Amino acid sequence: MKILVTGSTGTVGSEVVRQLHRRGATVRALVHRRGAADALPPEVETVAGDLLDPVSVEQALQGMDKMFLLNAVTPDELTQALIACNLARRLRIRHVVQLSVFQADRFRDVPHFASKLALEGALREFGPPFTILRPGYYFQNDARLKEALAGGLYPVPLGPTGIAAADARDIAEAAAIALTGEGHEGKTYNVVGPNLLSGPGAAATWSGFLGREVRYAGEDFDRYERQLREHLPTWAAFDLRKMFQSYRERGFTSSADDVAGITRLLGHPPRAYEDFARETAEGWKKGEGEKRGR
Ligand SMILES: NC(=O)c1ccc[n+]([C@@H]2O[C@H](COP(=O)([O-])OP(=O)(O)OC[C@H]3O[C@@H](n4cnc5c(N)ncnc54)[C@H](OP(=O)(O)O)[C@@H]3O)[C@@H](O)[C@H]2O)c1
Repeated sequence: MKILVTGSTGTVGSEVVRQLHRRGATVRALVHRRGAADALPPEVETVAGDLLDPVSVEQALQGMDKMFLLNAVTPDELTQALIACNLARRLRIRHVVQLSVFQADRFRDVPHFASKLALEGALREFGPPFTILRPGYYFQNDARLKEALAGGLYPVPLGPTGIAAADARDIAEAAAIALTGEGHEGKTYNVVGPNLLSGPGAAATWSGFLGREVRYAGEDFDRYERQLREHLPTWAAFDLRKMFQSYRERGFTSSADDVAGITRLLGHPPRAYEDFARETAEGWKKGEGEKRGR
């Protein structure tokens, strides 16, 4: 079975490549920026391409049976996603696994959620055969917080109630299972961890593993958006601020049924945030890079 993996050099996609490779699938990794593929297993075929360029996507899809479709958060995310799905249909790709987002339907006013929901709808209406994965907030986002945590602050405005969150390795494993197993077509799977992740809870977890006080910064969304603008384009800062503020206003919580569902799909309980944080903190103490848990 031959599978094209998009987003193959990113947090989830790189792990999807490894998981599929381990399961014996023949993987072709679509690589956007030259050089980014260095971390992929050397046996994996790579092909250069841009999801905004139908010519390169068509070439990448030639000879493939299936596709893992992950679109980065960009202003033209939906156009990129529709190009890939329409070409997959034209080339009679047998199965597409779409990386969407948890509760995409409840956050239609958040730009990158709206793009994903629109793609889900297009897949349901027009095909090709699909499976939709809806993951919560990635634990691995917090591997970028080394500096802030060292300064004693957990800066992400997750709120006091807690949100649905998941380990990127479980998301990738769910994708690999859906792509290589039977009976997943037409299904939508929520991918969540065993517990909700709150701002104060995350701060306490890091305090424990880093051996120093870490304070939760709270939910000043204006300030958060200003901070994001220091390293992201303004549209992306706006999108993320809107997302976190909407979580706070409407809730973004997973249920016991969600946890049971992902446990069934994976064949084991989903990984816990505490385990991710412990591994990451240990890696930092050993002087390893900031991105852990891939
Ligand atoms: N972070 C979260 O908490 C979370 C939660 C739920 C869902 N999601 C969704 O997950 C997705 C992001 O996943 P991720 O964090 O694994 O991604 P990521 O680490 O940001 O990586 C994005 C990947 O997409 C590639 N890419 C970007 N633009 C491309 C283009 N025009 N053509 C081809 N490839 C392109 C990147 O390659 P280059 O680096 O070479 O450009 C990279 O391989 C988004 O759709 C996001 O909404 C995220």
